[in-house]
Amino acid sequence: MRRGGQGEPAEGREVVADRAHASVNLAAIERNCAHLRSELRDGVALCTVVKADGYGHGAAQSARAALAGGSSWLAVAGSREARELRAAGLRDVRLLVMGALSPFELREALAADADVVVWRERCVHAVAAAGGGRVHVKLDSGMGRLGTRDPAEASRVVAAARSTPGLELAGAMTHFATADDLEDDGFFEFQLDVFARWARPLKAEQPGLLLHAANSAAILRDAQAQFDMVRCGIAAYGMDPLGDAPDARSLEPALVLGSYVAEVKPCRAGQSAGYGRRFTAQHDTHLGVLPIGYGDGWRRGLSNNADVLIGGRRYPLVGTVSMDNITVDLGPDPGAETLRGKPAILIGPQEGERITAEEVARRLDTINYEVTCALTERVPRVYHRDGAPVGEATGEATARAHVRTRSTASA
Ligand SMILES: Cc1ncc(COP(=O)(O)O)c(C=O)c1O
Repeated sequence: MRRGGQGEPAEGREVVADRAHASVNLAAIERNCAHLRSELRDGVALCTVVKADGYGHGAAQSARAALAGGSSWLAVAGSREARELRAAGLRDVRLLVMGALSPFELREALAADADVVVWRERCVHAVAAAGGGRVHVKLDSGMGRLGTRDPAEASRVVAAARSTPGLELAGAMTHFATADDLEDDGFFEFQLDVFARWARPLKAEQPGLLLHAANSAAILRDAQAQFDMVRCGIAAYGMDPLGDAPDARSLEPALVLGSYVAEVKPCRAGQSAGYGRRFTAQHDTHLGVLPIGYGDGWRRGLSNNADVLIGGRRYPLVGTVSMDNITVDLGPDPGAETLRGKPAILIGPQEGERITAEEVARRLDTINYEVTCALTERVPRVYHRDGAPVGEATGEATARAHVRTRSTASA
């Protein structure tokens, strides 16, 4: 199991078990959800969004942690995600499928006992034709995506859902376009007002109707947006919905992305590294090779544009990110040779230093959501609670998990 580099003995070195790995602290997800709940007014339900494999963290594992943290609903984008959560044993929790559904997917969602979203009378008829179920009517108050922009049409859909046998009108919802943009010229407040004016009278008619609008950013922004339930994704995983600093919002990033220094080699001034020779050494130095690349979701846009932590120090990624490898400049010090086999952190903390998903997102001119969602299946997710391995792992898997949590999660 121990591996210190290509064919090298590992004695005396810290070890990692996989070329690239993501360790996910389920206790952090649980605490983030408990913290988010503490921000909610009494009686407001927390729905944790676990679509896209739990924003790259693992849907079922994240869902269980969220429920332990006080979440009472889960939301996904598609019917397949709903089916997979049910198959993973998450049976006694309300599940909302938020996305558009083909006729096949609608049947799959309803078969998974999930609530679905409707916004035209024909959606209501489709749910009835598929055997009926619980629906949430969506008003498009300004997002310009799913939902109807016309409150009168949304009210007709409400009436149709109430009067159609086999359907239960469970909720009324909208989605904010600019909750994360504090300089949106009042667009967030505009959407809030459009939704509230349409939804409040419906609630008066049907007190059990669940009104919901807020995503993570909206929770932080305005308590008025909470209504009866909030749909919270990014913050549950400990990332900052405003793309800034998770700690400043009392959020704990749950995911650590790690690899290790598989090779160290001298690089003389004038020598290059990687496809297209996009790095040429200006002076004699050492290159470290880490076996992680865009095939793992470490994007090519990070070529010459990221740092990596090794031994608690930042080293610059140099050259082009290839599918399976990156190179880092370890500097001219001959001591660089001793870094062979050392764990490397691409996202997460190490000995007092930290690289956040927000930092990586800024470098890529994107958002933290995309950074963790981009991690591919090739990157094994290993689960732990504050460093203690969890899961049904046995034999080799247990050993791998132990090695990984020791070398990355506890860093
Ligand atoms: C309809 C809807 N609601 C809620 C969310 C959760 O948003 P966030 O991850 O910003 O909390 C999403 C995510 O994109 C969404 O599409």
